[in-house]
Amino acid sequence: MTRDEDLRDLARDIALEAGALAERRRAEGVRVAASKSTLADIVTEADREVEALIRGRLATERPDDGFLGEESGTAEGCSGVTWVVDPIDGTVNYASGMPSYGVSIAAVEGGETLATWTALAGVVHHPALGETYAAARGSGSVCEAGGHTQRIRVATEFPAGALVATGFGYDPRTHAGDIDTVRSVMPIARDVRRIGAASIDLSYVAAGRIDAYFERGLQPWDVAAGALLVVEAGGAIRELPADRFGRRMTVAGEAGLVERIADRISGVTSDE
Ligand code: IPD
Repeated sequence: MTRDEDLRDLARDIALEAGALAERRRAEGVRVAASKSTLADIVTEADREVEALIRGRLATERPDDGFLGEESGTAEGCSGVTWVVDPIDGTVNYASGMPSYGVSIAAVEGGETLATWTALAGVVHHPALGETYAAARGSGSVCEAGGHTQRIRVATEFPAGALVATGFGYDPRTHAGDIDTVRSVMPIARDVRRIGAASIDLSYVAAGRIDAYFERGLQPWDVAAGALLVVEAGGAIRELPADRFGRRMTVAGEAGLVERIADRISGVTSDE
């Protein structure tokens, strides 16, 4: 076992525990605790409780590591490894009783963004769907479901056009521009999906269920684990230059398809 595989297995065990807690809380009834960047951007009590569980477990097992979480912020470590965590990605789905939400846990070193870190291990667990996606640097990506573990690969052929997924940020001012972006990609698309959880979009790209995913303004915890899943499944992930509010477009999929989508999106004039 490599160090990165150990990190992956730890992330997997903690993600399963965290997912079980999220499911229990969901069954008991979800309470919205607050709104964040906009009214639509919510945090539930479960988001906070699940992040506290993950943070506590990591602090016990890996006390020297740093932490960057969606709900509880950052803590510096001294080992060089930082855990990047979204306890419940797809909070709106979670709070609305829809199953597409994930627990996303990644270990990275060297920076706090997709462009600057090296991802070491990543796990996206889908509690309501009973699927766990896991990757360690250099060891490939797998999906565990129903007691079986399978290697996964990104899709490489798109005879009917690419099945693409996308997301729209919580800021209503960006919606018109996001729709223009979708319009620019549709000529090479078979159809479009909006799942509502970036980590699930990325794990589906890694598994070849959808061919590509693009979204503007993602946060480090939305992409940290999913990006490694895509790369270790043979795919590519690219960030386009930021718009004037600093939001970057992330594009993931098979490398050639990523380039084609990036070319189309780059031609879209900004919404603001
Ligand atoms: C959100 C989801 C959503 C995406 C947003 C993310 P959250 O994460 O991944 O699909 O469109 O950009 O912020 O807030 O549910 O953890």
